[in-house]
Amino acid sequence: MDSDESRPLLATSVAETELPAERPSQLDIYLSKVQNRNLYLATFAAVLGPLSFGFVLGYSSPAIPELRKSVDPALRLDGSQASWFGSVVTLGAAAGGILGGYVVDKAGRKLSLMLCAVPFVFGFLIITAAQNVWMLYVGRLVNGLASGITSLVVPVYISEIAHSKVRGMLGSCVQLMVVIGILGAYLAGTLAEWRWLAVLCAVPPCCMLLLIAFMPETPRFLLSRNQHPEAIAALRFLRGPLVDHEWERREIEANSSAQEMSIAELKNPAIYKPVLVGVTLMFFQQASGINAIMFYAQNIFEEASFKNSAIASVIVGSIQVVFTAVAALIIDRTGRKILLTVSGFIMAVSAAVFGIYFKVALPAPGNSSHVSSLNSLPGVALLAEEHRLAWLAVLSLSVFIMGFALGWGPIPWLVMSEIFPLRARGIASGSCVLTNWFMAFLVTKEYYDLTVLLTPYGTYWLFSALCLLSILFTVFCIPETRGKTLEEIEAHFQRSL
Ligand code: BGC
Repeated sequence: MDSDESRPLLATSVAETELPAERPSQLDIYLSKVQNRNLYLATFAAVLGPLSFGFVLGYSSPAIPELRKSVDPALRLDGSQASWFGSVVTLGAAAGGILGGYVVDKAGRKLSLMLCAVPFVFGFLIITAAQNVWMLYVGRLVNGLASGITSLVVPVYISEIAHSKVRGMLGSCVQLMVVIGILGAYLAGTLAEWRWLAVLCAVPPCCMLLLIAFMPETPRFLLSRNQHPEAIAALRFLRGPLVDHEWERREIEANSSAQEMSIAELKNPAIYKPVLVGVTLMFFQQASGINAIMFYAQNIFEEASFKNSAIASVIVGSIQVVFTAVAALIIDRTGRKILLTVSGFIMAVSAAVFGIYFKVALPAPGNSSHVSSLNSLPGVALLAEEHRLAWLAVLSLSVFIMGFALGWGPIPWLVMSEIFPLRARGIASGSCVLTNWFMAFLVTKEYYDLTVLLTPYGTYWLFSALCLLSILFTVFCIPETRGKTLEEIEAHFQRSL
């Protein structure tokens, strides 16, 4: 399924196929006249969605310690309630994937984006007004639903409005805004009390709703509905007045299969192959253990003498922001596969070292049971050996998070938005989002059981092995999408049957 570099840069109509040498320059001429200002504006409006879902993900970290000590017994969370408060978002988001897959095709990309804002705001309102733990759960579930729909719709919207020269960079801004949102929630959480923090978190989705209302629907969606004048108007807005908008319209129309997809078509390799690639990407993103590691990060930093766990969260959040930004800047030059491979390698090595830390620092099973060594996980007093090696834990954990931010954080979302034929984009992206969030739920919820079953070091070595497997998957199964139009990527899967 690998890429075919000998193919022309832009897949086009039959007449043009006979002149492959001219086509890159035709595209180059087009791109040299493009003005990106409005494209960046529309992308900015859209990524306020991922910013909101970053706030949802980050919210529980500062809110849980406060809610655990709440003076109101109706709102005081015990350990198990706190873990549900954290993880119920992932279940809501998995459901949001299914709903998003349906809505994005029926209502269109722009309207779906506007709809996402509603459950975001509503969820935070329920949390703000919460009188009991169930209201907190419902608020988080509704926020999760919004996050699931957003994690599907925004990458699709951006990939369909962008052109091939900047699509990687703009697509990576999705994850960049997620991690900025997570960091924003951590930082704001050091200042604001949990109810006020929920009010603050409702601001980005309101801004998204206002801004996106003035942005166009994607030209590809409009063309799939035969709305030609609207598609040209959208292209004029997104590319500026200097280019030949009709040329890009023809390019899109000549190469995309616009008709609606039927369920029977799932048997078609041109559909199921990219779906398998997308779903497996999401599986590996979560099987790397990122959410377990981020969750445990606070304890590790704390034991390494960062007494304030909020500071640990801010450090983790900052590493993510910096390296996700680096990935966004270089991705259109390096390509997706190289970054995924390097990222998988860094994560495999650092997870293995993290496992070594556990093996050396924690008592052997003969001396005390794994269960009792696990009891020390949530940051109860650690052994002298653990304190001595805490630097190793901090280092390997930071390197792991850096590795994730460089590739496996942003790229699965980006590739998901690039590889599906237009007619399958809703349902196929829905399966990816469902897989991602369901896996995130499993990993965070089953993490402790896994450490009991496999020992803590066994668990991290398993994550490490899965990261190694992800490298093989990257090398052999993922097509390189850098510099290609969405229509050319669609044609690649048609050809490689
Ligand atoms: C993942 C989330 C993760 C977040 C962390 C996202 O790409 O899908 O599961 O929590 O990155 O940065």
